[in-house]
Amino acid sequence: MLLDRYISLIQEGEIVAFPTETVYGLGADAWNPDAIKKVFEQKGRPADNPLIIHIASKSAVQDFAAEVPETAKKLMEAFWPGPLTLIFKKKPEVLDLITAGLPTVALRWPSHPLSQELISRAGPLVAPSANTSGRPSPTKAQHVREDFGENFPVVDAGETQIGLESTVIDISVNPPRIYRPGYIGKEQIENVLGTEVFEAKEGEGKTAKSPGTKYSHYSPKAEVRWLANNEKPVVNHSLYLFHDRNPEILSDQIIFYKGDLQRFARELYDRFRQADHRGIEQVVIEPFSKQLLNEQALARALENRISKAAAKKK
Ligand code: TXA
Ligand code: MG
Repeated sequence: MLLDRYISLIQEGEIVAFPTETVYGLGADAWNPDAIKKVFEQKGRPADNPLIIHIASKSAVQDFAAEVPETAKKLMEAFWPGPLTLIFKKKPEVLDLITAGLPTVALRWPSHPLSQELISRAGPLVAPSANTSGRPSPTKAQHVREDFGENFPVVDAGETQIGLESTVIDISVNPPRIYRPGYIGKEQIENVLGTEVFEAKEGEGKTAKSPGTKYSHYSPKAEVRWLANNEKPVVNHSLYLFHDRNPEILSDQIIFYKGDLQRFARELYDRFRQADHRGIEQVVIEPFSKQLLNEQALARALENRISKAAAKKK
């Protein structure tokens, strides 16, 4: 299908999946309440979990944000278009369906060229990750079809580049707070702002500052757990993911990323889904050292997603 066809579908109030640099999104016209309702229905998403509005210019921020603080201007200048979502105080016109009744709105300008074209021509678009709620986010068009059916409209651009969802930062509060860690880290943000920012502690979202953080997420059907100290991989119904310690034996169920966290992040959700296809019972993942967590934003983003998958109730 040509992009024109997807654009028409959105203009007709339908929902369409499309690639961004992080994960595939499920797009709908941000000014069409019926289309937005379809997004919640399609995902089985709780109504109290707000959506990110995707735009394709800095000036579009004015349409949704009641005010644009200096911190936001600096972050937009440094990181947009890109994998950073900013939370602003919202204008009254922004649909409550999108913000789940919160006084704030989340905005992001993705860098993927196809998402930019789609948004410029049919947007602004709300776009949660294009997965059934609770499942791993889609990093391939096939993942979207797995969750939504073979005939679901998805703009197929192969594998997404980053593989984990955008960093979410609230700049409506002072100092700014990171609700969801991602590829763009605290240190990079602090360098741009010249001030300290904080990462919200796990569970803080439960008090409804960022409702999405309270839900179990990203889970395959297999159990996800951290590798124990000195535990050695054994050939059984498990998938092992190592990033630092060399497991010595390798197979298609014992994977070693050799410190390449970018590749690890890009592949994580696909590994989760593959595990389910192969009837794997456990995904066992090497924990990240304190040093790596301190030094690398991507290690913290990976740890955040894996911990959530591991916390899933059986
Ligand atoms: O990378 C991404 O951000 C992807 C791609 C498609 O752009 N989208 C994505 O959307 O991950 P979603 O809906 O799966 O996650 C959005 C997160 C949720 O945790 C939600 O609670 C939070 O952003 N959020 C949205 N609006 C918010 C608001 N006004 N205040 C606090 N958190 C908000
Ligand atoms: Mg999601």
